[in-house]
Amino acid sequence: MRLTAVTPARPVPLDRIDLYDPARYRSGEQHPAWHTLRAQAPLWAQHTPEGDRFWSVTSYADVSRVLMDDRRFSSAHGTILAVARGDSAGGRTINLMDQPHHASVRLPSMRTMATRLVRERREIVRGHVRRILGEHLASGEPVDFARLMLQLPMAGVGEIIGIPVVDWPAVPRWAMAGVAPSDPEYATGSEADTLRNAHHELMALFAGLIADRRRTRRDDLISVLLDLDYLGRRLDEHELLLNCYSFAMGAITTTPQVASHMVLAFADRPAAYRAVRENPALVPDAIEEALRWASPTNHLMRRTLTRVQVAGQWLDEGELVCAWVGSANRDEKVFTDPYTFDPARSPNPHLAFGVGAHRCIGGPAAQVVLAVLLEELVATCAGFEVAGEVVHLHSNFINGITRLPVRARSAVREGVTR
Ligand code: HEM
Repeated sequence: MRLTAVTPARPVPLDRIDLYDPARYRSGEQHPAWHTLRAQAPLWAQHTPEGDRFWSVTSYADVSRVLMDDRRFSSAHGTILAVARGDSAGGRTINLMDQPHHASVRLPSMRTMATRLVRERREIVRGHVRRILGEHLASGEPVDFARLMLQLPMAGVGEIIGIPVVDWPAVPRWAMAGVAPSDPEYATGSEADTLRNAHHELMALFAGLIADRRRTRRDDLISVLLDLDYLGRRLDEHELLLNCYSFAMGAITTTPQVASHMVLAFADRPAAYRAVRENPALVPDAIEEALRWASPTNHLMRRTLTRVQVAGQWLDEGELVCAWVGSANRDEKVFTDPYTFDPARSPNPHLAFGVGAHRCIGGPAAQVVLAVLLEELVATCAGFEVAGEVVHLHSNFINGITRLPVRARSAVREGVTR
């Protein structure tokens, strides 16, 4: 999200704030709205266009409290505002389950994504990243970096999930259409048609892979899902499909956005990029800052399971609460100069991966692929220039960039290789 300076001197009148409207997320104008809410209305009610009321929390403390308390704030109803009426996959896939069902899927799945395992795959991932970057950046011609980065998630977790390399190019497009069906970049007809097509394509792919693993188990997530003990039984076919879908969506809708926001931030701030180039030991901190800066999931929704106090007010059972991660990650009570992109920021307790029981299971794998990407960029590119219009995703859920024309300056040509 391109940011103009946000200062307390520019509060937005509360009656002009609309956190639902997906169009407002294309310009960065939600940052002043979140800033105002943090200062003036820590718990704020709005209705969706269908008339469902949701309560927004925007401070770091309240967002963390809601996400940490999965006994009182349920994920089973749905976690994104677009399906405030209730997600049809609710209760049947890892991110939409409450305990004890959630733990019975999450704990075995974690084995495939553990930090040690994903770090051991670093050089395999590097091979994939080098293939994706290829000669694109070295050519000096403008490249749509947002489009290029759609391939990044499979480089990080394609093999871990169990998706064959031949299928990697098709998966990201359908996954993005699934979260932003109204975006012109991904629409294949009406919103409903696009959603149906996207869903169908991904489900058909996973049905084939599940059938294959039923015959022969492999060392991948799909095989783990097939064998896990789901409170005394196996997951049924539909639950298997939904879980595969969740893992793929979790990776694809988020990882490219961090890469694109990071390169855009570096294009706008050559000194910040130079600092990382000259000291690659900064790469891990720079990636954490890119995660905070991008905050790919703007919000995470929950539903109250009991009467509960939120930001000092009592809410009844059954209320929708939206925790705005994008706002928490700019909370000036936690982050010094939150609207400054500082690749050396430390500590950086951002909430880009969420927090609590549902904290991103793919976080370590995402950190590895993003760090490898940045290592490769600083080794080959002297800097970046934006070479055309930057287009943001039409979505109140994913803080995305759909088009990012970039021209990279070659480190070799400029004689600044390390
Ligand atoms: C930069 C990249 C990523 C970001 C910013 C991100 C963000 C998040 C967030 C905020 C959550 C918490 C959802 C909630 O509390 O309701 C989450 C959960 C999840 N993510 Fe990620 N994610 C990323 C990468 C990945 C990858 C690479 C995978 C693939 C393996 C993945 C799979 C999942 C799954 C399956 C969950 C649900 C976990 C659970 O409910 O226990 N994510 N992610």
